[in-house]
Amino acid sequence: MDLIVMGVGVMIGAGIFSLAGRQAATMAGPGVVLSFMIAGITSLLVAFCFAELSSALPTSGSAYTFTYVIFGEVWAWNVGWALVMELLFASAVVSRVWSLYAAQLLTDLGVRLPAPLAAVTGRAEGFDLFTLFILVLLTVVVTLGARIGLRALRIIVVAKLLTIGAVIVVGITHFDQRNLSAIPAPSASVMSATNVLDSSLLGLVFGQTSAFGWFGIFSASAVITFAYIGFDVVATAAEESEDAPWSVPKGIIRSLIVTTVIYIAVALVMVGMTSYEKIDRGAPLANAFHAAGEGFMVHVINLGAVLGLTTVVLVLLVGLTRVLFSMARDGLFPRGLARVNRRYRSPTRVTLLIGGTAVLLAEFVPMNALEPLVVIGALFVFIAVACGVIRMRQTMPDLPRIFRVPLSPVVPIASIAACLWLLVNLQVITWLYFIAWTAFGMMVYLLYGRRNSVLAGPEQPQEALAPVLRGRHRR
Ligand code: ALA
Repeated sequence: MDLIVMGVGVMIGAGIFSLAGRQAATMAGPGVVLSFMIAGITSLLVAFCFAELSSALPTSGSAYTFTYVIFGEVWAWNVGWALVMELLFASAVVSRVWSLYAAQLLTDLGVRLPAPLAAVTGRAEGFDLFTLFILVLLTVVVTLGARIGLRALRIIVVAKLLTIGAVIVVGITHFDQRNLSAIPAPSASVMSATNVLDSSLLGLVFGQTSAFGWFGIFSASAVITFAYIGFDVVATAAEESEDAPWSVPKGIIRSLIVTTVIYIAVALVMVGMTSYEKIDRGAPLANAFHAAGEGFMVHVINLGAVLGLTTVVLVLLVGLTRVLFSMARDGLFPRGLARVNRRYRSPTRVTLLIGGTAVLLAEFVPMNALEPLVVIGALFVFIAVACGVIRMRQTMPDLPRIFRVPLSPVVPIASIAACLWLLVNLQVITWLYFIAWTAFGMMVYLLYGRRNSVLAGPEQPQEALAPVLRGRHRR
């Protein structure tokens, strides 16, 4: 149950509270419901792959360790580095959205901050005090041991689910069928003009993409994958979970199913309540209820979002500490980072490093530049995991796996195809930034990790099994 709480706690956040509205208004119209379905099905296919590998190799490194064991160190480094991008950048984005909602909540409650403070709170760009506050607060919580966090997590996740439940129940009473049938005609869009599909030979095959219409829906699906980020984080809890080979796969799949159903229901309510043109791009849900004259619900949503986004950032930070901890334990980062503080029983150094970097990113890099990078990093990791399932069935057929992907290799191949399709719907600039990030990572690996690795070299991936199995013992 805690693993499901963790999954729901990390998944339901900025994706539904902020991104969904922006995508409906600019790219998909009411079709955003389909975008949520497409991204949800893709995530579910990938989740099966994560489930099999985490049942065979239940370690805190998640996709990083899977890749290590299956493909060797160089690929593992690249996947670990992409995971860092995914989780770190996501925590920066979500804390920024947290600040927007927290400022809104204070305004709703009639709390007036002194002018100099009000000028630097709840801002989408530039230095923001609330973003700093939430990241520092949660870094401290994680540093003091995730157990404090876990207890709070359960309560907050329940509050978040109650909020979402209220959105669905009250929203249905304002549902207007006509809003769904007003499907916008495809039109050129600044957003889609630069995606990979357009800019490559694929553009000749599929024609120019556009906002709205099917291609708008696909473009939105790619961005909306952000909303599902987190089911993969559940796998990082493997070394701290009882009966991990069984409980972690279940936690991953069940939390994703719960989240997918919730997203589709909320998206449907959102586009059913308001005509897509009028959906607010910043706080879509709150504004839809405001327009419907449900003032009380606006408070509920603002409060629910503040609480809900808190758990997202918290679990992202915890997940990232576990991944970096594993990479440092293997010598790919300085091993001092992997030291567990005796007093707090958590890897404090790595946590402080992550918190500090997240603050810098959130404060100095625009949110809409970070969002697609989170998605591209995740899709890269997803593809590696799906390839891992296929390869491990061949190279380690006897390794016990309590959970097995049904219909393998059909499901892993379908996962890879779905992720690739979403990838070509991302913008060219996002690919370029990702290539630069990967190249920078490779440099770090060549200068540090390769020389200091304590595990097998690239030629002997099987050697890496030893610490993985030791990890199993330790549980
Ligand atoms: N899936 C998480 C969110 O939507 C990252 O906030």
